[in-house]
Amino acid sequence: MRSLISILDLSVEELDALIATAKDIIAHPDNYREKCKYKKLATLFYEPSTRTRLSFEAAMLELGGSVLGFSEASSSSAAKGESVADTAKMISCYADIAAMRHPREGAPYVASTAATIPFINAGDGGHNHPTQTLADLLTISREMGRLNNLTIGLCGDLKYGRTVHSLIEAMSRYEGINFVLISPKELKIPGFVRYNVLEKHNIPYTEVTSLDDAMPQLDVLYMTRIQRERFDDPADYERLKDSYILTADKMTLAKEKMCVLHPLPRVNEISVKVDNDPRAAYFRQALNGKFMRMALILKLLKEAEDGKKEAIDTEGFIYDRVCRNPKCITQVEQELPQICKLTDRAAGIHRCIYCEQKV
Ligand code: NCD
Repeated sequence: MRSLISILDLSVEELDALIATAKDIIAHPDNYREKCKYKKLATLFYEPSTRTRLSFEAAMLELGGSVLGFSEASSSSAAKGESVADTAKMISCYADIAAMRHPREGAPYVASTAATIPFINAGDGGHNHPTQTLADLLTISREMGRLNNLTIGLCGDLKYGRTVHSLIEAMSRYEGINFVLISPKELKIPGFVRYNVLEKHNIPYTEVTSLDDAMPQLDVLYMTRIQRERFDDPADYERLKDSYILTADKMTLAKEKMCVLHPLPRVNEISVKVDNDPRAAYFRQALNGKFMRMALILKLLKEAEDGKKEAIDTEGFIYDRVCRNPKCITQVEQELPQICKLTDRAAGIHRCIYCEQKV
C-alpha cells in the first residue's frame, strides 16, 4: 500500500505532477467536487494542530468525501495503551485513507506498515512533515514562478523544526538550489538531514547566525517557530525563544522580488507589521496546503484503487542495535522490532529506520 511518510517517498516527477494537479484544482474547482464521493478520510491527531488537520478535512470535503477522526490522544484508545499498529489496523476497517500526526518519531511509518489503507504522515515529533512541504512547494512555485535556481534561507529552529527537514529533502532534488541555514548554534539541522541529504548530494549550503547578513541574497526566506514542546530543558527554550524576529525594518534589506514563508503558527518571530508586505506569503501558503492535500488524497486513493502496492524495502535492515533516541516510537512500543540501516559506509554510521537518529 502506497503511503506518504517522508517527502522522499515522492519522486520529483510526482511532486511536479501534484503541483500541476493543485493548479488545475485552483483553476477548475468544479471538476473536483465529486471526485471522492463515498470516500472517507480519517484524521488521527495525537498532537495539537489547526492548519494541518483542518486543511486535510477541508480538502476531503471539497472533493465530496467525508471525514472522521480525533484531535487529541486523550480521546483515542491510545489513552488506554493501544499500540499505533493496532490503531492503524482498526482505522483501515473504517476509512479509505488516513492522516496521522504523532509526537513520537516514526509513528506514522509504523502505522503504514500495519494498515491496509494509505497513511499520510501529518508530522511526527521533530522528524518530518511531508505535507507541509507540499504546501511550501506550491507556494514557492506560485510566488516565484519556479522551483529551481533559488537561494533559500531557513531561519529559526532548524533542529526540531520538522517542516525544515522535509523542505530541505525536497528542494535538494531541484537544480541550482543553495541553502542559507540561519540558526543559533544550539538549533542547527540534525545529522540525518546534514549527512544523508546535503553532504551526500553535494548541495551548496552555508550556516550562519545573522538573519540581517543573510537577507539581501535570499529568494525565499522560510521563518520557523522555536519548537518549545520539543525542548528537554525549558531554560534552553527561554534563552533561545527570541533569537530571530522578522520586522518591517529587516524587510528593507531583502530583494524586491522574494517571498517570506512560515508553516505557522507564529509566536513572535514575524511581526504582524510584515503581514501587509506583498512578499509575505504565509497566509497564501496555508491556503495552498489545502490544494496540495486535495491533489495528494486523489493520487493515493487512485493508486490504492489500482491496487498499486509498494513493498517495504528491507534490503540492508540490521536487527541487532537498539535506538536510544528518547523521542523514537520504539521507546514506548517495546514489541516493535529494533531495525537500523547502514547510511554511511565510510563513517560506519547506522540510523534507526523509524526516527533516523544514529544508533
Ligand atoms: C508546523 C508543525 O506542526 O510542525 N505547523 C504546521 O503544520 N503548519 C510548524 C510548527 O508547529 O511550528
